[in-house]
Amino acid sequence: MSKLRTLCSALMVTAVEKIRDWRWKARLRGCYDSAKTIQTWTTQRELRELYRLAASCPPGATAVEIGSYLGASTIYLAAGLKQVHGRLVCVDTWNNETMPEGERDTFEEFERNISRLRDRIVPVRKRSEELTQQDIGAEVDFVFIDGEHSYEAVRRDFECILPMLSARALVAFHDSTYGEFPGVSRFIGETLARGQWFLAGNVGGLTCIRRGPLPWPRESDELCPIGLQAQWHCPMSRSDVKVSVIIPCYNHGATLREARASVEQARNANAVKVIIVDDGSSDAETTRILNEVAEAGHCVVPQPNRG
Ligand SMILES: C[S@@+](CC[C@H](N)C(=O)[O-])C[C@H]1O[C@@H](n2cnc3c(N)ncnc32)[C@H](O)[C@@H]1O
Repeated sequence: MSKLRTLCSALMVTAVEKIRDWRWKARLRGCYDSAKTIQTWTTQRELRELYRLAASCPPGATAVEIGSYLGASTIYLAAGLKQVHGRLVCVDTWNNETMPEGERDTFEEFERNISRLRDRIVPVRKRSEELTQQDIGAEVDFVFIDGEHSYEAVRRDFECILPMLSARALVAFHDSTYGEFPGVSRFIGETLARGQWFLAGNVGGLTCIRRGPLPWPRESDELCPIGLQAQWHCPMSRSDVKVSVIIPCYNHGATLREARASVEQARNANAVKVIIVDDGSSDAETTRILNEVAEAGHCVVPQPNRG
């Protein structure tokens, strides 16, 4: 009986994943399969969050991406902006600077990858610090900074775009919570400490700050306050949540799958937010399942084991 229940739960989870996949296919309008194969360091969860943030921009918004590489993040941003009839200015030298595989011309590959959303995208091929207001042509509502990750470069990119930002602008930084790029989190911390920017939220290595305590991005009630070094996994923009289910976890990840499946059977599963508090699980299977659950968009809050 319990085997049957586990099988049903697994089938349910697979079905939910398939539906989710199908919805993303529709959102990305023919780019989904190719977007999945484009080389990138940005995770699926971060890419999806970029889509959501772009789609919650004001109508006709202009967004800027600093560091587009081969176009994976560009596709998600541009598809989100398409929802609000916005456009995306992409700034990159497309010479693969600062990338581990060495310098090469990546522009043709970028153009090929983004071709389906080309009408939403304005590539500006230059160094980010040379970006001007004329290159952009409008006030900027949303910026994704993912170029060079040193403290000096992030600061330079931010200061260069700052005069072009709208009063309600949101700025997202990539690789902001990993020890590998301490300059990014240092810059965010210093900026918040000055008191003019506020933390909007965090997903994986993606951290967003916003200007002023205004309620933007809209539907932002899920933004989680974070310590900048913490690796919290919380989706940033859902306003439809009516019930939060908190699932404590310590090892025995299989029961987590069952708990998740039972929540997803709820009549209006979209209105339920699942928060899994992991009390420092140590077994590999549970870690794998926690990652799987976080990838599916649920909130996973890790903490050191408290016994
Ligand atoms: C980490 S990749 C961007 C990844 C991309 N956002 C994604 O999610 O797939 C960094 C990119 O920034 C570009 N880059 C590095 N320094 C730059 C600079 N000073 N100006 C313009 N582009 C730069 C590199 O050429 C590279 O394409």
